[in-house]
Amino acid sequence: MTYIIDGKKIASEIRNEIKNQAQSLLDRGIIPTLAVILVGDNRASRSYVNSKHKACLENKINSVKIELAENISEENLLQEIEKLNNDNSVHGILVQLPLPKHINSEKILEAITIEKDVDGFNPINVGKLTLGTAELIPCTPLGIMSLIESVEENIEGKNALVIGRSNIVGKPVASLLLQKNATVTIAHSKTKNLSELIARADIIVSCVGIAHFLTDEYNYKNTATVIDVGNNYKDDKLVGDVDFEKVKEKVKHISPVPGGVGPMTITMLMYNTILAQKVQNNK
Ligand code: GUN
Repeated sequence: MTYIIDGKKIASEIRNEIKNQAQSLLDRGIIPTLAVILVGDNRASRSYVNSKHKACLENKINSVKIELAENISEENLLQEIEKLNNDNSVHGILVQLPLPKHINSEKILEAITIEKDVDGFNPINVGKLTLGTAELIPCTPLGIMSLIESVEENIEGKNALVIGRSNIVGKPVASLLLQKNATVTIAHSKTKNLSELIARADIIVSCVGIAHFLTDEYNYKNTATVIDVGNNYKDDKLVGDVDFEKVKEKVKHISPVPGGVGPMTITMLMYNTILAQKVQNNK
C-alpha cells in the first residue's frame, strides 16, 4: 500500500509547536516579528504575501507588511532594508521575489542582515548552508526534509535524486540531503539518462516546474519516496511535477499536490522567524 505523505498534517503539528514557542516569547515580553516587503502589484506575489501574513497572525507571530511602489529606486529599497536591519523589534525580513527588473535582486538579498534572513537567500547564508553551518535554511527545502524524514528513518547511504537545480529549491535540498549522508544526484534539463537515475533512486525530489513531468512510464523502485515540489497549472487546476494518480501505484511514499510541500513552506517561514529571534538574542 502506498503511503500518502500528509503535508497539511505535518505542517499543523509543527505550527502547534511554533505557536507554543511564540506564546512563551510573548510571556517574556518579546513579540516575534516578521517584516515582509512587497514591491509593486504582482498578483501572485500579493497573494503569497497575504498568505504569509495570515499564517503568522494565526500562529501568534507579528507580521508587518511593507508595500512599496513598483517604481521605487534600488537605493530607496536598500534604505528600507537597512531600517529593518537596525530595528530590534523585527526578527525576520523577507523581500518577496520577483522584484521589478530595474532592481538588482542579488544586491537586495545581500543587504538583508544574515541573522534576519528568514529566506536563507543572502549569499553568506547560501555559503553556510553548503558548509553545513547555516542556522537559517531556505523554507521550502527545510519543509521537504521534514516530509522525507517523516517516512525515511535513515537517509544515510540512500540514493537521492533531485530533479531541478534552482537556487531556491534544487541546490539547497541537495546540500541538505548530502548533509544527511545520502548519495545525491542532481538532474536537470540537460541530463541524458534520467530513466536510469530514477530506476536506482530511493528518494526523488522533483522541482522542475513542469506539470506531470514524472509519469508512470519510468521504472521506480517500489520502495521509493517521491516528493513533489511542483506548483503548476494544467487545465486551470493546480498539479505537481508528478502524475500523482499513476505514479502513486508504483512507489512506497509520495507527497500530493496540493497538500504536500505547499503547506510546509509557510510553516518553515514561521519556524525560521522564531529561530531568527533566538539567533539574535543569543549573540
Ligand atoms: N517568491 C517565490 N517564492 C519565494 C520565496 O520562497 N521567498 C521569497 N522571498 N520570494 C519568493
